[in-house]
Amino acid sequence: MLERSVRRGSTGLIMRPQELLLLLMLRWAGAQMEDPAFPHLGDSSQPLLRACPWRCSCPRDDTVDCAGLGLSVFPDNITKAARHLSLQNNQLQELPYNELSRLSGLRTLDLHSNLISSEGLPDEAFESLTQLEHFYVAHNKLSVAPQFLPPSLRVADLAANEVVEIFPLTFGEKPELRSVYLHNNRLNNTGLPPTTFLGSEAITTLSLSSNQLSYLPPSLPSSLERLHLQNNLISKVPRGALSLQTRLRELYLQHNQLTDSGLDATTFSKLSSLEYLDLSHNQLTAVPEGLPGTLTILHLGRNCIQQVEAVRLHRARGLRYLLLQHNELGASALPAGTLRPLRALHTLHLYGNRLERVPPALPRHLKALVMPHNRVAVLGARDLVSARALAELNLAYNRLASARVHPGAFRRLRALRSLDLAGNQLSRLPEGLPPSLRSLKLQRNQLRALEPELLAGLNKLQELSLAHNRLRVGDIEPGTWHELQALQVLDLSHNELSFVPPDLPEALEELHLQANRISHVGPEAFLSTPHLRALFLRANRLHMTSIAAEAFLGLAHLRVVDTAENPEQVLVQLPPKNRGALTPKG
Ligand SMILES: *[C@@H]1O[C@H](CO)[C@@H](O)[C@H](O)[C@H]1NC(C)=O
Ligand SMILES: *[C@@H]1O[C@H](CO)[C@@H](O)[C@H](O)[C@H]1NC(C)=O
Repeated sequence: MLERSVRRGSTGLIMRPQELLLLLMLRWAGAQMEDPAFPHLGDSSQPLLRACPWRCSCPRDDTVDCAGLGLSVFPDNITKAARHLSLQNNQLQELPYNELSRLSGLRTLDLHSNLISSEGLPDEAFESLTQLEHFYVAHNKLSVAPQFLPPSLRVADLAANEVVEIFPLTFGEKPELRSVYLHNNRLNNTGLPPTTFLGSEAITTLSLSSNQLSYLPPSLPSSLERLHLQNNLISKVPRGALSLQTRLRELYLQHNQLTDSGLDATTFSKLSSLEYLDLSHNQLTAVPEGLPGTLTILHLGRNCIQQVEAVRLHRARGLRYLLLQHNELGASALPAGTLRPLRALHTLHLYGNRLERVPPALPRHLKALVMPHNRVAVLGARDLVSARALAELNLAYNRLASARVHPGAFRRLRALRSLDLAGNQLSRLPEGLPPSLRSLKLQRNQLRALEPELLAGLNKLQELSLAHNRLRVGDIEPGTWHELQALQVLDLSHNELSFVPPDLPEALEELHLQANRISHVGPEAFLSTPHLRALFLRANRLHMTSIAAEAFLGLAHLRVVDTAENPEQVLVQLPPKNRGALTPKG
């Protein structure tokens, strides 16, 4: 029942965690009843035993749900026994002091997505709500935070308002407060005084993202576990601002204006629980100092980092994900010894830099090396030798020519599953490809020929892309596909093929031949590929009579044949049992 309501809820509207929480709370409340139809989603036709405001539903004595009714006036006759009051998604501009202050038993007050301004929210009324735990007023028109919220508060959501100022008793002196959401407001540091969280030392989640902060607010609670500060104007973390946050696990500082001088050696060094640090989209030119050893994910993408100093990563031995994409890393930016100590490193993202080689001495447990869009022109015999656990290697869009890829470069990579060499200058298939490969991407190179011995042993390969090369059928040697027993997807589009290559692998399910020069498909073209499901022959040189009627006879699984954009409209005769599936619908 619980599952069903969540699912129904989530198809209609996207739920944020606090909405979901409320839904679950109401759901739980409903479950205590004989007919536990959820008031908002279910029907409210059951006879009501007690007074309930007009059009609202009251599934329990203490629950009043008036959500989504287009109300512009606060409903009358809300029972004083109400503990949970939902008024979200209405048109309320103000709440009357008398009505609100009367509801002194409220635990949950949900006002999100209304039109409530600060003038319309009677701050003094909250003095009577001494039990209030959950207060949701996101997506309204508050220009300042309420002057006072009750000390019983546990969760406060004021996101997506126009708040420029927080007061000392808005969130201060709240020993129970756990989560504060203030993202998407207009707070600058002046609006967030150092007393903001005084006496509230249980806050674990604080979201201040998408505001106008220009430095990291000092005096944050030491209890924080998650701190969201992304999308501000932060250029500086004042000295000591994060010195007490020993429980902080996630720190989000991406999309700010941080420079090297805005940080110092102590900025992060006291964060002895920090696991996730996002500094992407800033203006750093170096990896920050003092990174804690607990860090597992470090995101430094989209900065201006030119050089990674080995000493800066020395303590970060627990690092599993190091993301350095879109920086200015040049030829000698990652000297030997920089990465070697990162024994736990799993994933290294380096795409969009100016690297000329694979970084030396890759850590032994590295699983993914992702470095497309660099300037790698050489792959030596020993470049990948230390990274024997590598499962994914992406060197697409570099400057590799066949003569400068050593025949032994890949040989030791016994766990390699995915190799992407698209967009290089290869004229031959690479040598020594490991038999573990599942996916090989070689599109947008200058391949002119395919030699069977270079694909030998790749009997686990499932996907091979050779699109956008210069292949002609005559240059695909007989036996080329012979050992590719697992190949399901073959992309030969945008080559110079004049007919369907013969003896394609038997497991093939998807064959891309679009944008070639195929003018004729003979009766035996697909004899070797009985499992074909999709065939793309678009943009070739086919005419009405180019395809032999028998060509598709044995293809019981064929569902898609694309023959558009040929000189003449090509009608394809599919075996009768497939025909239904091809009939256009609607
Ligand atoms: C509220 O209750 C009073 C008396 O209990 C009743 O007269 C009035 O009609 C009710 N108002 C609404 C809107 O139901
Ligand atoms: C902070 O915001 C307030 C209110 O919008 C504004 O009056 C003040 O000038 C701002 N201060 C700074 C330093 O930008």
